[in-house]
Amino acid sequence: MNAVIDSQVLETGGIGGHPRGLNVLFFTELWERFSYYGMRAILVLFMVAPVVQGGLGFTVAHASEIYGIYTMCVYLTAIPGGFIADRMLGARKAILFGGIIIALGHFTMVLPALSAFYGGMLLIVLGTGLLKPNISTMVGRLYHLNDPRRDAGFSIFYMGINMGATLSPIVCGYLAQSEHFKTILTKVGLPAESSWHFGFAAAGVGMCIGLIHLLMQWKLLDKIGGKIEKEEVALHDIQDVESDTVEAKSTITVTEPVHDSVKDPMKAPVITPAKAPLFTPDELKKLGALLCLFVFNALFWSIYEQGGSSLNIFADRLTDNRLFGMEFPSSWFQSLQSTYVILLAPVFSWLWIKMGEKQPSSPGKFSLGLMFLGIGIAIMVPAAILTAQGKVSPIFLITVYFVETLGELCLSPVGLSTVTKLAPARLASLTMGGWFVSTAIGNRLAGYFSGFLQSDSSGSMSYMFGAMAIAALTAAGLLAGLTPFVKKLMGSVK
Ligand code: PHE
Repeated sequence: MNAVIDSQVLETGGIGGHPRGLNVLFFTELWERFSYYGMRAILVLFMVAPVVQGGLGFTVAHASEIYGIYTMCVYLTAIPGGFIADRMLGARKAILFGGIIIALGHFTMVLPALSAFYGGMLLIVLGTGLLKPNISTMVGRLYHLNDPRRDAGFSIFYMGINMGATLSPIVCGYLAQSEHFKTILTKVGLPAESSWHFGFAAAGVGMCIGLIHLLMQWKLLDKIGGKIEKEEVALHDIQDVESDTVEAKSTITVTEPVHDSVKDPMKAPVITPAKAPLFTPDELKKLGALLCLFVFNALFWSIYEQGGSSLNIFADRLTDNRLFGMEFPSSWFQSLQSTYVILLAPVFSWLWIKMGEKQPSSPGKFSLGLMFLGIGIAIMVPAAILTAQGKVSPIFLITVYFVETLGELCLSPVGLSTVTKLAPARLASLTMGGWFVSTAIGNRLAGYFSGFLQSDSSGSMSYMFGAMAIAALTAAGLLAGLTPFVKKLMGSVK
C-alpha cells in the first residue's frame, strides 16, 4: 500500500501536473453528466407537454413530484453504490457497470411508452448509484491526504462535470424542442412529436462515449480502482492521525504500533481495525461537523434545483425566449448554471489561493453559498410580478442563475473536498454516500416546492420565490453564527 500511495504522489503526467488518472475520471464523469443533465433538461418539459405534442400531459404538481423523486433516487443509490464498490466490485468496475446501466436506461426512454419512461429512469437511478459516488471517491484516492494538489484536483473534476452539463441541454434541447429538428423529422417521415425521444437517445449516446473513453484508459485506474483492503484502512488512518497532532495524543496507543508497521512492513498484520474503538473522539467531532454541513447542503439544493423544475417551466411558459431577435428552446437556459461554473471556477480557485490563510473556512463558504442563493432566487420575485403583464425578459433568469452559481461555487466543490478530508478513511465511501443522501433530500424537497408553482398567478409565484429567498438568507445567517463552533469540531481540517 505504501508504494501505491507514493506512486500516486509522484504522478504528475495528467492535466495541469495532476496524476494521469484524473484525466480518465474527468472525461468519464463529463460524459456521464452530459447524459444526466441532458435528460434532466427536458424531463419536466416532456412530462408537462400535452399528449398531442408528444408529452405526457402531466400537471405541474405531478411532474414536479416525479422530478423530485427521480432526482432524489439518483443520489440516494449512492449509499448501496458505495458499499458495493468498497466490498464487492471495487470502484473501477462499479463505475463501468454503472455507466452501462445508465446508457441502457437512456436508450429505454427512447421507446414511446409510459413503462419505458419509468423503467428507463429506474435504470439511470441504479447506474448512477454505482458510478457517481465512486468516481468522486476515486478522485480523492489519487492524492495523499496532504497533497497540495488535492483541492485543485477536485476543482478540475468539477469543471468536467459542468462541461458535460453545459453541452447536453443544448444538444438534447435542440433535438427535443426545436422547430428546426421537428421539420427534419417530418421530412424523413417520422412524427414531429417523437422529437423528445431523440433528446433521450442523445443522452444515451453521451454515456456511451464516456464508457469508450473509460475502457480505453482502463489501466490508468489500476491502483485506485480496487476494493477497500484492511491494510489500506490502517495506512490511511495513519495519515489521519499524523495530520492532527493534538488528537494524536488521545489515539497514541493505536498509532505507535502502526508507525512501527510503516518502518517494518512485516509488523503490519499486528494492527487490525477491529481492535480499534468504533470511532475516536476526533472522528466523532468531525462527523458532527459533517452532519451540520449535510443539513445546510440539503437546504441549498432544495432551492437551487428549482433550476430543472419550476424555473424550467417559468422559462418555457413565461419567458420571452429570444435573444438578439433569435428564438431558442427554453431548455437552453439549463446550460447557464454550468457555463457560469466553468467561467467562474478558475476565478474562485484563484481567489481562495490569493486569500490564503485569510480565506473563509468551509462552513463560512457554505454560509456565503446560501447567501448568494438567497439573493439569486429573490430576483425571481420582481420577475414573477412582471408576468402579470406578459412574458418577461430572459435577462431575469440569466441573472438569477448567475448569482445562484456564485453560491454553488462556494458550496459544492468545497463540500466534496471537505467530505473526503473529514471522513475517517475506512468510511470514505459511506461518508461520501451521506453527502449524496443530503443532496438527495434537497432534490426531493425541490420537487415538492416546485409543485407549488402556479404559472398563471404572478402573486402566488412571487410569494413562492420570496419564501425561498427568505429561507436561504436565514440559513446563511444561522450558519454564519454556527461557524466558530463547527470549525472547532473540524480540528485541523479547514
Ligand atoms: N453539479 C453537481 C453534479 O452534478 C451537483 C451535485 C453535487 C450532485 C453534489 C450530487 C452531489 O455533480
